[in-house]
Amino acid sequence: MRSLITNIRLLASVETDGRRHYVAGADMAHMPCIEHAWLLTDAGLIAGFGSMDSLPETQVDAHIDASDCIVLPAWCDSHTHIVFAAPRDGEFVNRIRGLSYAEIAQRGGGILNSAQRLNETDEEALYDAALQRVHQVMAQGTGALEIKSGYGLNTEAELKMLRVIRRLRETLPIPVKASFLAAHAVPPPYRDNKAGYVQHIIDDMLPRVADEGLADYMDVFCEEGFFSVDDTARLLESAAGFGLKPKIHANQLHISGGVQVGIAHGAVSVDHLECMGDAEIEALKNSDTIPTLLPGAAFFLGMHYQPARRMIDAGLPVCLASDYNPGSCPSGNIPLLLTIACTQMKMLPEEAIHAATLNGAAAMELSDQLGSIAVGKTANLIITPPMPSLAYIPYDYGNNPVGRMMIKGRLV
Ligand code: NIG
Ligand code: FE
Repeated sequence: MRSLITNIRLLASVETDGRRHYVAGADMAHMPCIEHAWLLTDAGLIAGFGSMDSLPETQVDAHIDASDCIVLPAWCDSHTHIVFAAPRDGEFVNRIRGLSYAEIAQRGGGILNSAQRLNETDEEALYDAALQRVHQVMAQGTGALEIKSGYGLNTEAELKMLRVIRRLRETLPIPVKASFLAAHAVPPPYRDNKAGYVQHIIDDMLPRVADEGLADYMDVFCEEGFFSVDDTARLLESAAGFGLKPKIHANQLHISGGVQVGIAHGAVSVDHLECMGDAEIEALKNSDTIPTLLPGAAFFLGMHYQPARRMIDAGLPVCLASDYNPGSCPSGNIPLLLTIACTQMKMLPEEAIHAATLNGAAAMELSDQLGSIAVGKTANLIITPPMPSLAYIPYDYGNNPVGRMMIKGRLV
């Protein structure tokens, strides 16, 4: 199937001279674009693009007129917990009344609440609910997803979650990566024996997850009251033995040492990063690890935002992801996230869009296939409604900048 999109007002994030794994620092503000452009897809891939002056004569199966519209790569959301059993709106009200996220967790709510509900829910129901959420975020422009386990907290339930993720990967038209996050909270049977739970993950869970090939990455919630730097190091070392690279939760509530332990173990990304000192930024500068910011969680928990400006000014390849989960961010709406990044974190629209596309793809090791407009990349594209500029996407907040969504070269 060949599709030709013509009269595109602005074709955004094109790569003509060489591919980039990600975009970092000052380059994030410069988004190469072509005005009044065309783009051709063939067999699901981008086959060519250019200015309308150079429109080729070619036979196609579908012709899409994009007059006054912007075309850009679909969002690559590299951090979600989109498989869960039930919302936590009761905790939301408790937080309004004054309890903190950490206090709710200490009282057995939070992640443990979600784990209890997930253990009571069968695979079919989890799949159906997650699929519905994925369709919702795809309609908002998401064209690739990472999904974590971590609401099972015992072998069978973690495997159940990961099998749901595998089924999503097999049925969805967009790429899905899976992360194993049994070290998300210490479950009740191990309440006074965290070391025992860590050992259980290493001895019993990891071999089964690896055996079934259910995960691409190992995740750990490295945070005071959850898993320490030492726990994290042990878990990441064991995971490396099974070929699972780290993508970890770090520095959400405290400067936890999570950034450094992630880097030391070759993490693809360290995620959250609300609490960052100079040492953390310096460590990231000397690494290949991508700093992934989750401002949706800071927004929803009423916390301070991640220091995106400091990190970009330090030359880092900042990534943005949703963190879609029932506790700290019950939304996978990337357009809203872009607005938060621009208004609250002072990211420029181009920086925010780079962070949620090419850098999101890199944080899932997919930037050779997704995240920018380049010949040979998968044609997962957003075609906006008529709009004047790229900045209009985060400016027009609360509205959906997706007019038409293209997945593998087909309108969906
Ligand atoms: O990324 N902070 C740890 N994990 C998730 C939230 C999980 C939850 O509250 O259910 C996060 O924010
Ligand atoms: Fe998370």
